[in-house]
Amino acid sequence: MKVAASILDCDFLHLAKELEDVVKAGADAIHLDVMDGHFVTNLSFGVPLAKAVRRAVSVPVLTHLMVTEPEWLIEKFLPYSDAVTFHVEATEMHGQCLETIHTAGKAAGISLNPNTPVESLRPFITLVQDVLVMSVYPGFGGQKFSPEAPARIRDVAHLIKETGSSATISVDGGINADNCAAVSASGTQMVIAGSAIFRSNDYATAVRALKCL
Ligand code: DX5
Ligand code: ZN
Repeated sequence: MKVAASILDCDFLHLAKELEDVVKAGADAIHLDVMDGHFVTNLSFGVPLAKAVRRAVSVPVLTHLMVTEPEWLIEKFLPYSDAVTFHVEATEMHGQCLETIHTAGKAAGISLNPNTPVESLRPFITLVQDVLVMSVYPGFGGQKFSPEAPARIRDVAHLIKETGSSATISVDGGINADNCAAVSASGTQMVIAGSAIFRSNDYATAVRALKCL
């Protein structure tokens, strides 16, 4: 299991040190949660922070856009991201979003909220490199993992198989040492974790547990 560290819960006063520590602890990627106060009822950070993170780490930077009409913002984050994920619910311009990401030579992800039907992914499933299944309603770190998530992950895995898509599955929200085995068994290749890592006092132990090692 790969682990991406969501820095939403890190100590921003010491961002460089936090990034260094979490990569040393074994995180496979850094996950950036961009929020617009509209698609979700919270604001986080924007392009300057993505730029700083990109300079600081050599692991992949995965940008998760929780914004309405991502088509206006994708281009700004692409130079600092290896992959950009947008929400299926957030736009009517899915094709344009995917084309912008792919033209830049980057990987595209599509995400869905816990109450969005998995079927809504069907038109895009063969065009994306990753599906980011939300196991909380997005907007805040430190929420409780939805018990319905493993069944939804299995449904996404089924859709991927049925359509011949090569997309991987990532899962985001409330991931911790107690639920990552079930998430893995449902067909997930990567978990995103914020509070389970940054609210622990030993990042290496926390990351190891999430990798199911
Ligand atoms: C939720 C974000 C998540 C979140 C992860 O809106 O997309 O990436 O910050 O944090 P934890 O692991 O604390 O749920
Ligand atoms: Zn996220």
